[in-house]
Amino acid sequence: MQTRIQKIDMRHPDAAVFREAAAVLRGGGLVAFPTETVYGLGADASNENAVSRIYTVKGRPADNPLIAHIASREQFFEMTEDVPAYGRALAETFWPGPLTLVARKKSNIPDWITAGLPTVAVRFPAHPAARALIEASDTVICAPSANLSGRPSPTCAEHVRRDLEGRVEMILDSGPVEIGLESTVVDVTGSKPQILRPGFVTVEMLASVEASAIVSYDGMGVSAPKAPGMKYRHYAPRADMTVVTGDPRRAAREIRRLASLSLQKTGVLATVQTAGLYDADRCLVLICGDRDAPETFGANLFAALRKFDDCQTEVIFAEGIPETGLGAAVMNRLKKAAGGKIIEV
Ligand code: TXA
Ligand code: MG
Repeated sequence: MQTRIQKIDMRHPDAAVFREAAAVLRGGGLVAFPTETVYGLGADASNENAVSRIYTVKGRPADNPLIAHIASREQFFEMTEDVPAYGRALAETFWPGPLTLVARKKSNIPDWITAGLPTVAVRFPAHPAARALIEASDTVICAPSANLSGRPSPTCAEHVRRDLEGRVEMILDSGPVEIGLESTVVDVTGSKPQILRPGFVTVEMLASVEASAIVSYDGMGVSAPKAPGMKYRHYAPRADMTVVTGDPRRAAREIRRLASLSLQKTGVLATVQTAGLYDADRCLVLICGDRDAPETFGANLFAALRKFDDCQTEVIFAEGIPETGLGAAVMNRLKKAAGGKIIEV
């Protein structure tokens, strides 16, 4: 299959491009598109065949449900029932934006979106291209991240191309995304919001709306985590990865020691503050972010993991950061990429 790669300039959006992409979706095709978090791989949610192609193309486990992307809050209430007052408040406060709400689904929501679960995950993205596409297609769009299953999520169209060219009809390219970490997934079926996946909307931000959010995402290896996707080793570079947490200088010293003992091609995922402490002749040193500006980690993390792959890195040592604010989401992705291998110094 020939994949059409269409550049879009959101300063001068061309409605014809979104009409064409919408026609591809309506015809059962797959369109990768930008959101503010990561690129998504879209299919018309009402078309079972198209949605099942998402699973085939990505190699996605059949028990991992999809997020339904909408372009108005009303669509959320049309798809769900029994949403508590705090769930409505979260939708009011954080939509459009990087938040996914998991709510009890109405009986007309097909099982092929939800992998048979009684709940459906819904997100109203803020990115103007995502909104334009959903509006033009006049349907709900199912979209997981547009990577091969197990690979780091794509933060630019080139990542999508390298994973999916020849397997999908179209890729909309509006350049690099803003956030670079997938949306926060919050279950709103209980008496309190339950965070199933940390993201840009932090526990502290959720607390400004509903005081008592429950954090329940450290589910690696747990047999039935509530977000099925959280049990897989995600975001994984091909290399064997270890995260070293603790005081930054001590962590850097330990990483230097480990890297000096390594006989394999070694990479270090460093920070602005520590990059100069490593031996760049011996290993590939990439900067993940600035410890004083946590949002920079999101923007670089997945691209750095892909870069290690491109350079055939065999072993990666990554510095941890404090798990407060956005640091919780960054560390969740790092730990998953490392398959849970963590050294505390
Ligand atoms: O930022 C994002 O959320 C991106 C963009 C494209 O919107 N999408 C994304 O989708 O990250 P995906 O499929 O890679 O991750 C969806 C997560 C998975 O962990 C999945 O198990 C969980 O949401 N999920 C989906 N439906 C669910 C449900 N009904 N109950 C619990 N978890 C659910
Ligand atoms: Mg994903």
